[in-house]
Amino acid sequence: MYAQFYAASKEARVSKFIRTFHRWTSIAFTLVVAAIFVVLALGQQPARWIYYLPLLPLFFLMLTGLYLFALPYFSKRETG
Ligand code: HEM
Repeated sequence: MYAQFYAASKEARVSKFIRTFHRWTSIAFTLVVAAIFVVLALGQQPARWIYYLPLLPLFFLMLTGLYLFALPYFSKRETG
């Protein structure tokens, strides 16, 4: 999808990996949140620690998301 922007450099491969990681972690995060709502809708009260589960993928999303945000500003091949 972004192949045209990525040469085979190590930096580019790391960025691509981080984008893919961000993408799939967002799915994990969404599924956990959705599962909690489904359990609540079924009238069950999950243990309190369950509510903290989405924070783990959200934390990784924040780290990788901030990296993705900063990427264009530090890119060597920026042409404007
Ligand atoms: C928590 C802080 C987060 C930050 C700082 C962040 C930041 C970013 C940034 C900067 C991008 C790249 C945008 C671009 O293409 O220029 C991105 C892409 C994306 N974000 Fe996040 N994000 C965060 C959380 C989330 C969450 C919670 C979700 C969904 C549940 C999500 C889903 C995605 C997806 C699917 C992409 C596209 C990935 C791709 O191009 O393959 N992000 N995010």
